[in-house]
Amino acid sequence: MSHPAAGELFDLHADGEPPADPFVLAGQWLPADDDPDRPRVTLATTGEDGSPNARTVLLSAFDESGFAFHTASTSRKVAELAADPRAGMVLLWPDHSRQLLVRGDVVPDGADQLAAAWAARSAYLRRLARCNTDELARLPLAERRAGWTATADQPPGQAASWVGYRLQPREITFWAAAPDTASRRLQYTRDGDGWRWSHRAG
Ligand SMILES: Cc1cc2nc3c(=O)[nH]c(=O)nc-3n(C[C@H](O)[C@H](O)[C@H](O)COP(=O)(O)O)c2cc1C
Repeated sequence: MSHPAAGELFDLHADGEPPADPFVLAGQWLPADDDPDRPRVTLATTGEDGSPNARTVLLSAFDESGFAFHTASTSRKVAELAADPRAGMVLLWPDHSRQLLVRGDVVPDGADQLAAAWAARSAYLRRLARCNTDELARLPLAERRAGWTATADQPPGQAASWVGYRLQPREITFWAAAPDTASRRLQYTRDGDGWRWSHRAG
């Protein structure tokens, strides 16, 4: 997957018009999909009891189809997204001076997207995806170690539980600190086929 026209990094504190398309700006901020240093993302969902829930996931990929993350079909987030496919994401990237916030709806990945994300995961993370179950978590340590060791002999194919989603934004907000003035946000909201933007206090 390639990022939308990356180009030179737009300075959020500069005067003048920001890019009309927030995907262009997000493409400038985020690492390429084949960069092994993946952004750690706080993913917020609505819990099945109606209260908020959140956890960390890796941003697997990003392009105009959305912000992708991958997980186990048996996980709580998957049940929550089945009941309510809205989600929020917070990406603190690449350090504490920049933050990207996304709100929108998730759509499940297709087979090709799942295969690409699986191929991009490290050997360690593929092993984890194969054996990271509640059943294993409940076992004594010696049995959990044996379960982990057993994954080394398994075929390299996708874990049966491997699923992924794209968060398709309705709103994208870029936040940037500055050494000599207040932090500032640039908020994009979907407006028909395009976007409208506004500056907001940090
Ligand atoms: C740095 C970090 C990265 C993580 N990345 C993922 C990930 O990409 N996918 C995933 O399913 N869980 C990931 N986890 C584990 C989740 O935070 C979480 O514990 C797990 O997905 C179960 O969440 P759930 O019960 O809310 O579904 C990560 C945890 C950490 C600390």
